[in-house]
Amino acid sequence: MAAWDPARYLQFERERTLPCRDLVARLEGGPYRRIVDLGCGTGTSTAVLRARWPDAAVTGVDSSAPMLERARASDPAVRWIEADLRRWTPDAPFDLVFSNAALQWLPDHATLFPRLFEAVAPGGAFAAQMPANDGAPYLRAMARLRARPEWRRYRPEAGSEIGIESAEFYYDLLAPRAQRVELWETRYLHDLPGPDAIVAWTTGTGLRPWLASLPDDAHRERFLGQYAAEIARRYPSSAGGRVLFPFVRRFVIAYRAAPPP
Ligand SMILES: C[S@@+](CC[C@H](N)C(=O)[O-])C[C@H]1O[C@@H](n2cnc3c(N)ncnc32)[C@H](O)[C@@H]1O
Repeated sequence: MAAWDPARYLQFERERTLPCRDLVARLEGGPYRRIVDLGCGTGTSTAVLRARWPDAAVTGVDSSAPMLERARASDPAVRWIEADLRRWTPDAPFDLVFSNAALQWLPDHATLFPRLFEAVAPGGAFAAQMPANDGAPYLRAMARLRARPEWRRYRPEAGSEIGIESAEFYYDLLAPRAQRVELWETRYLHDLPGPDAIVAWTTGTGLRPWLASLPDDAHRERFLGQYAAEIARRYPSSAGGRVLFPFVRRFVIAYRAAPPP
């Protein structure tokens, strides 16, 4: 349960790829000849990059072997690297350092973001997207359950949970280093088949470390039953049984100055 599950993740491929497409569409400059996709997962985000810059040399980096296996099968022309981004250092700078929905899994953004920006070649860009759902009903549902006496004693592994900082934090960090920084947020309203789809969505990502902390499948099943009831209460279905799942994404692009002519 702790490991990433490609099939579960890809269940919402269309919805999860939308913000990646939006980020790629917003990128100016280039040409980006050397591109790296950090936390490339199954290669879905990498495919969007490949479609936009078909002549670029593209590298995908991820720490999950099952996710990378799927990625490798999707595109043999990409250099796929299994590495932990907490320690990864590039062999040479990239014109585009890109990350879709991955950096929220890494700690200490105050150190991480400047380090990743260092990997951008002059005239290049750093571009990242992370979920920003503080206070969202599904997170409140998780918090409420975790506070119950039955679940209180279980704790996810330190550093294994999602964490992201404010927009101002990323601006203050990157603006002094960059020629220009662009930040924005988008609130997507995903049209899902029903509340159970929200349960499936969040078990594939944010709920993973928490489920991993439970001792066995019986506990996980009981927890998920309670979680599903909370979700159904907080996300009422429409008349047709479908449900709109609001999901906020925070985007940041930082452009590095080009060398003087
Ligand atoms: C939500 S998926 C995003 C995948 C892909 N970028 C996409 O848009 O479909 C997050 C990915 O980040 C990877 N990841 C999380 N922590 C990591 C780390 N410390 N080093 C490398 N990859 C990591 C996970 O293995 C997972 O594949």
